[in-house]
Amino acid sequence: MKVIIINGPNLNLLGEREPGTYGNDSYKSVCEELTAKAKELGFEACECFQSNHEGDIIDRIHSARLEYSGIVLNAGALTHYSYAVRDAIAAIRIPVIEVHLSNIHKREEFRHTSVIAPVCAGQISGFGKESYLLGLIALKGILEKGEIS
Ligand code: DQA
Repeated sequence: MKVIIINGPNLNLLGEREPGTYGNDSYKSVCEELTAKAKELGFEACECFQSNHEGDIIDRIHSARLEYSGIVLNAGALTHYSYAVRDAIAAIRIPVIEVHLSNIHKREEFRHTSVIAPVCAGQISGFGKESYLLGLIALKGILEKGEIS
């Protein structure tokens, strides 16, 4: 059971970026915490990957299918409009859990739409960095049941 946590645009600025919305923890500290939690949950490997570039996110989703059992994905703003990220998720057979730090349904209207939600196993939104942890727990449940997305 191996997991990759993929983060999209602007998530490298966690801790600095709109802390009232996204929290005070840095990207690095969130990754360290999640890597430790993933190990506790029984994942044998946990990688954190972040890019501000749509193509890099797509390439990593593609390559992850050969290396990992599942993906926890915070696609950032790409969530709301990237049909290319959606198609990349639809193209692979490992499960993808969509996560968001903020509750996207409580915010501006453009954030209410997730074009990736229909091709993800499920969506977790609004629990700060705990959203990623809940994503790992959900992924573990799916993998243990042997379900694929
Ligand atoms: C986000 C929500 C998105 O609307 C936003 O563009 C982000 C972060 C979240 O984690 O709450 O970059 O995905």
